[in-house]
Amino acid sequence: MKLTLRDTLNYPLIILLAGSTLTAPAFAQEASPRYKKGMVVCAYPDAAQAGLSVLKKGGNAVDAAVAVQFALAVTLPQAGNIGGGGFMVYRSSNGQTATLDYREKAPGKATTDMYLDANGKVIPQKSLYTHQAAGVPGSVDGMIEAHKKYGKLKWADVVQPSIDLAAKGFKVTERLANDLNRNQEQFTRLNNGGTNYFARTTPWKAGDLLVLKDLANTLTLIRDKGRAGFYSGKVAQQIITEMKRGDGLISQADLDNYHSVWRKPITGQYKQYKVITMPPPSSGGIALLQLLHSVEPYPLSRWGHNQDSTVQLIVEAERRVYADRSKYLGDPDFFKVPTDSLLRPAYIESRMKNFTWAAATPSSTIQPGSFAGYESDQTTHFSIVDAQGNAVSITTTLNGSFGNKIFVSGAGFLLNNEMDDFSSKPGVPNMYGLVGGKANSIQPGKRMLSSMTPTILEKDGKLFMVVGTPGGSTIITSVFQTILNVLEFGQDAQQAVTSKRFHHQWLPDEVAPEINAFTNDVTTKLQQKGYKIVPRGSIGRVDAIVVTPQGYLMGGADPRGDDTKSGW
Ligand code: GLY
Repeated sequence: MKLTLRDTLNYPLIILLAGSTLTAPAFAQEASPRYKKGMVVCAYPDAAQAGLSVLKKGGNAVDAAVAVQFALAVTLPQAGNIGGGGFMVYRSSNGQTATLDYREKAPGKATTDMYLDANGKVIPQKSLYTHQAAGVPGSVDGMIEAHKKYGKLKWADVVQPSIDLAAKGFKVTERLANDLNRNQEQFTRLNNGGTNYFARTTPWKAGDLLVLKDLANTLTLIRDKGRAGFYSGKVAQQIITEMKRGDGLISQADLDNYHSVWRKPITGQYKQYKVITMPPPSSGGIALLQLLHSVEPYPLSRWGHNQDSTVQLIVEAERRVYADRSKYLGDPDFFKVPTDSLLRPAYIESRMKNFTWAAATPSSTIQPGSFAGYESDQTTHFSIVDAQGNAVSITTTLNGSFGNKIFVSGAGFLLNNEMDDFSSKPGVPNMYGLVGGKANSIQPGKRMLSSMTPTILEKDGKLFMVVGTPGGSTIITSVFQTILNVLEFGQDAQQAVTSKRFHHQWLPDEVAPEINAFTNDVTTKLQQKGYKIVPRGSIGRVDAIVVTPQGYLMGGADPRGDDTKSGW
């Protein structure tokens, strides 16, 4: 096989195999395990094991994905869920692609002004920590549909690992213990009926066993009855009762009417890579392709990772793309999203025309673009590839950490607070500081706009990369930067995920790097051009798999979380 310079930079190991005299980048010294038969990268060690055990039993990537989704509902209550929703991007070993939208929906009784007071002002926290913050959950239906279409093992076999984890218990990591301790007051205040699994008088600590009996029973019903185990019968009744307790809106009709949707993937080209990603109601796929196209003409690899020119260009692209997001993106079943116009190369290039190297473009001077004939930050992502090369990229969420922090009493699972992803009022930012308007206004049965960007890349017609992350509005910029880290900056999967990131989203008009993401020199140069630099804590938890030219799977599990890569 003839190796290009790019190949050798992407895969430091190849340098040794090829006997090249090129100097390997520093990260090449880090031993990164590589696998041939399958790999799972996700946010909690026991969930990764659940997925791997399914692959080892002969299950395919979708079987493993179902096992991981349900296992994370047990072990990662901050974001893993059956009370939330998500998106799946799928690519089969022979190149067929599909996406599944199992995003939550607004209940039938939801109204555009439901979070406004009599004076038209947004009522603080109503879309976050109340029963009315919950959208109709989609995850269970999503897993059933994914398995029905692509699964190989029996349904019961892929649900069972999560039941075992919930019934027998699993060990709490230090991070989960800290998260549980931090939320004690809210768990207690918001849950006044049924078993409150997370509230306790002594602090949680690493190594504590967490047993979730009610959740084990709910998962058992899902295992035995499929859709009827959640959307009707005992669990549905528990959801309705919980809604009555807190003035919530979800009805039996909403549960009956909930169905996930197979949607045509958004695809685009970046150099020799084909990008397969999520269409609306995710804003992520369109935004990712706009970003990639905006920076493609520039010599990023020559400038280098997180250097001043690189950062400036990326920020200016992000400013324009997030401005478009605020106006044009919403649920395509309710709003005509101008996908073709937004992705037209001439349009994207025109958006970058008023960018100048001399100074930052103030966000106040950037508005959403126009074209003729117009039409918790807690979420979690997992990437899976099986022995045949089928790939699954799933991002799933409750929205905020632990969702609305309200258990469905007796059913043992938390509800989402995804309604906050709608625009409660035009121009008023949501919890991620994102603004929106009509496209993302609340309507009964509508899906709230998302930033989740599960993505798969092909190179030369073959699977190349599976990637995604949580992080609310930062999801899109994290996925974008991780892809550039591999494609432009020669980083391997782990390094690309570990590398420091930064975020910009048009409004607020500031650039937010992780601590030490920029050198002092880069920060000073950017400040001199008028960029407001506001350092912040960690951004996202990217979990990625990159396939080497020899067909090995190399994983990147984000060290910012308990993320784990398991393979064989
Ligand atoms: N709940 C975060 C998102 O979907 O973007």
